[in-house]
Amino acid sequence: MTARFTGRVALVTGGGAGLGRATALAFAREGATVVVAGRGAGALEETVKLIEDEGGRADAVTADVTGSQDVARLVATTVERHGGLHIAFNNAGVLEAGPLADMDEAAWERQLAVNLTGVFHCMKHEIAHMRRNGGGVIVNTASNVGAHMRLPFMGAYAATKAAVSALTRAAAKEYAGEGIRVNAISPGPLDTPMSMLPGETESDRAERMKDALPAGRVGTLAEAASAVLWLASPEAAFTLGHDLVVDGGAAA
Ligand SMILES: NC(=O)c1ccc[n+]([C@@H]2O[C@H](COP(=O)([O-])OP(=O)(O)OC[C@H]3O[C@@H](n4cnc5c(N)ncnc54)[C@H](OP(=O)(O)O)[C@@H]3O)[C@@H](O)[C@H]2O)c1
Repeated sequence: MTARFTGRVALVTGGGAGLGRATALAFAREGATVVVAGRGAGALEETVKLIEDEGGRADAVTADVTGSQDVARLVATTVERHGGLHIAFNNAGVLEAGPLADMDEAAWERQLAVNLTGVFHCMKHEIAHMRRNGGGVIVNTASNVGAHMRLPFMGAYAATKAAVSALTRAAAKEYAGEGIRVNAISPGPLDTPMSMLPGETESDRAERMKDALPAGRVGTLAEAASAVLWLASPEAAFTLGHDLVVDGGAAA
């Protein structure tokens, strides 16, 4: 096993579940000290334990990405406790599907606040640190549903994720000269509850995916995490402002 991230400090939002947890584990396996963030302390502590049980280094900091001050504290705490911030995976996200005309304003605002404004808050405070400290790497989580394809009943979510993709590319151009590399990942349906329809079982989902995706199945968390690690690694040094679609061919 290579250790591409030895001596690096990686921050992962949404690190208490799903893709965030899988990516936190993957970074730690390759030598990074990982700070996982989210609102629920218990889930974050579980991720820390999983990493420590494998001999890795991790820390949990509760933070709500919808609050700029909370994110400023998260970044400051990461740097104070671990001596730096080299990699940020801005991954916290929520999906509330439903017909647009029936969607209440609060559901629209919640998705915007977490998926888009949350990424803005993270980038703002991470970049402020990174530009003073020799640069860094940022990977944002967009989605194949957004800039790459659209589906009915996911309009609000798609709008937030298309905006994350645009924000990623603009920031990549803005900060390349300061040694900050910004990219995004756009997963398709992954093996988490977010890819399930209301009331659906895992075997219902597996049946639906046979026709819905060229790959015929949902993606594993390891498959998506490995794409994040590649974007964050020195191997991707010439990759800037890219939004890497990892979706089993759905948006092809
Ligand atoms: N799963 C898929 O099929 C899929 C496909 C395409 C894109 N994505 C994207 O991939 C990312 C991860 O998805 P997932 O399936 O792993 O989701 P998940 O299992 O629901 O995890 C989402 C994480 O985000 C955190 N979070 C939510 N609101 C937050 C807030 N306000 N502040 C801080 N953290 C917050 C949650 O923790 P707390 O609730 O404890 O805060 C949780 O750890 C999301 O951005 C999602 O949109 C997922």
